[in-house]
Amino acid sequence: MYKVQISGTGLYTPKEKISNEELVQSFNKYVDEFNEINSEEINNGKIQPLEKSSAKFIEKASGVKSRYVQNKTGILDTSFMRPKLRERSEEELSNLAEMGVIAAKDAIKNSNIDVDDIDAVIVACSNLERAYPAIAIEIQNALDIKGFAFDMNVACSSATFGIQTIFDMVKSGSIKSAIMINPEICTGHLNFRDRDCHFIFGDVATAVILERLNEENIKENSYEIIGTRLLTKFSNNIRNNYGFLNNSSPDGVGQSDKLFHQNGRKVFKEVVPEVSNLIKSHLEENNLSANDLKGMYLHQANENMNVLISKYVLGKDAPKELAPVVLDEYANTSSAGSIIAFHKYNKSLNKNDLAIICSFGAGYSVGNVIVKKIA
Ligand code: COA
Repeated sequence: MYKVQISGTGLYTPKEKISNEELVQSFNKYVDEFNEINSEEINNGKIQPLEKSSAKFIEKASGVKSRYVQNKTGILDTSFMRPKLRERSEEELSNLAEMGVIAAKDAIKNSNIDVDDIDAVIVACSNLERAYPAIAIEIQNALDIKGFAFDMNVACSSATFGIQTIFDMVKSGSIKSAIMINPEICTGHLNFRDRDCHFIFGDVATAVILERLNEENIKENSYEIIGTRLLTKFSNNIRNNYGFLNNSSPDGVGQSDKLFHQNGRKVFKEVVPEVSNLIKSHLEENNLSANDLKGMYLHQANENMNVLISKYVLGKDAPKELAPVVLDEYANTSSAGSIIAFHKYNKSLNKNDLAIICSFGAGYSVGNVIVKKIA
């Protein structure tokens, strides 16, 4: 068995940004328009009027202040309310591949790995742009990487499940290194007309390079993977019914269940204990104590949720530097959230410091990776 290191990470952040205030202004305009158009049915009690959203509520309930997006005008246009993305020819890079390539190049530069030394590409994300060919193979081709590539989807936990997949392959010796890429255009599956969730997501792409670790190959700012732990438990509380069979059931096409929908309260209550228990037992299994942790790079869905999880794990409130927040700026970016936090904040760790990268979300799915800074 070989040791494995995370030797570099990369980030692509879209140029456009929407603040809570801008998003709420557009949502409330849509509410006024809807209530006006449907005033007759509303007045005779056939339908309920829509309620307005509030930037204050969004920040208090979730911690989100802003989000980066691939297209701002389409989302804020009350007659469209989704990102407007140009149709691409089959000769062009697809949307996910394009942003994935940028994040991948950043990770390759940061890990200082030769592209010829990368054996595999995994795209791990919550929404894939098409059925086939795999986005990962498209990125493999764009970067001129040899070996093999495939896509995988475990919703918000895709990145930690991707890390375990590569970790196992490098550990066993079937490959020496691989790159995992998490392109997330979460605004494409978000219902911007739904007051309960219109503020949740943003867009981003992250990438992580894993390599065999030995005396001759210790990279600068590198992290040994001490262990990984995954868990899934079926739940309908976060769901999206969009899929290739939709056309075979025409009645459902265009219905709101073909976008992200959730029971946020239940998710909050059920996921917090699952995640805290998994982190605690995973640390115990490795004879580590939560007090040994110098970094907790948690999934970025809800700040209050993260505060509670770190409190359960540590037995006390976690200082912000220990469990950094990026969702205030990025919102929920699904699988990429914990990787953004790790990418932006791991430089503050010292040699031999221990940290976790932990994700959780639809499925339910939970993934935890324990890392130790080695250089
Ligand atoms: N603006 C103003 N008020 C709003 C609102 C909005 N956009 N959305 C909901 N409200 C109101 C509700 O109508 C409700 O009012 P009431 O008390 O008069 O009935 C109140 O705010 C509380 O609503 P609720 O949905 O219970 O809010 P919450 O405190 O649970 O926060 C989430 C909602 C979604 C932010 C929160 O539940 C959450 O983040 N959960 C975890 C979700 C998660 O991690 N999902 C994974 C996704 S991958």
